[in-house]
Amino acid sequence: MTTEDSSPVPDYLQKLRLDGRNYVVLGAGLGMGRQTCHALSQAGAAHVLCVDIDEHRAREVAAEIPGGLSWHGDVTKRSEVVRLAADASQQLGRINGFVDIIGMAQWKSILEIDDEIWDWEFDICLRHAYLCSQELGKLMVASGGGTMVFISSISGLSAAPMHAAYGAAKAALMAWVQSLAVELGPHQIRANAIAPGTILTPRLDAIFTDEQRTANNEVVPIGRVGQPPDIASAALYLTSDLSAFVNGRTLVVDGGVDAKFPYNTL
Ligand SMILES: NC(=O)c1ccc[n+]([C@@H]2O[C@H](COP(=O)([O-])OP(=O)(O)OC[C@H]3O[C@@H](n4cnc5c(N)ncnc54)[C@H](O)[C@@H]3O)[C@@H](O)[C@H]2O)c1
Repeated sequence: MTTEDSSPVPDYLQKLRLDGRNYVVLGAGLGMGRQTCHALSQAGAAHVLCVDIDEHRAREVAAEIPGGLSWHGDVTKRSEVVRLAADASQQLGRINGFVDIIGMAQWKSILEIDDEIWDWEFDICLRHAYLCSQELGKLMVASGGGTMVFISSISGLSAAPMHAAYGAAKAALMAWVQSLAVELGPHQIRANAIAPGTILTPRLDAIFTDEQRTANNEVVPIGRVGQPPDIASAALYLTSDLSAFVNGRTLVVDGGVDAKFPYNTL
């Protein structure tokens, strides 16, 4: 029997492999960042440069994976990102991509947000993305392309209470990703974002009460909040050639929260 479709079938699992490639993970020291370092390494990355403001955390994660290297500094500062790009280029040679995990929220109502909080939120959620896109991006353009993955949030898609400045910065990050995709696409650079729902990172795990844990689980259609490996899996997909035609998009990873119709009408 002959088949009508004789187009070649690729080795899909091979497309997930990152053999011999080098990556930078920003905010590598905890939770999603640490899991992403492991995911890239397990997929065959030759080197993962684990970047964190906390030297001890960066070194610890780097020591957990084969080919792990560490770098510490504050990537919300231009001078530090210039230093990172120079060091990464020297240590890795070619940089095939980066995953930028860094971000944090302060919980304030719109009428309570002050200029300091506003500026801090845009620095910690957006400025490093802009700086790293430029400084690491120049190296990636010069060496033939690669992938950029950023962690946004569903708070940038829908309004979460007390999250206005954070949501605005994360929405801006998703817009930034679209522009990266369009402007750097011709250089064979793909840029995408991930919008997580609630993810039980070590930081959240330490502050959640039992009531908050139960309430958060109940909101999610699949009955549980996310775990850091849920985000690392998405980061691996967007970094690998399995997503070779995905560019400028945000992948929502929230167990179905943002897909839900908000009214109980039945
Ligand atoms: N946890 C959630 O429920 C959730 C939900 C949606 C989106 N997010 C986003 O996911 C990402 C990770 O969140 P998390 O809670 O796992 O973060 P985290 O605070 O647990 O980890 C972030 C890491 O980045 C490092 N870091 C912080 N500032 C830095 C800087 N200026 N330079 C270099 N390193 C720095 C920290 O030391 C830390 O190791 C963030 O972008 C956050 O906004 C989290």
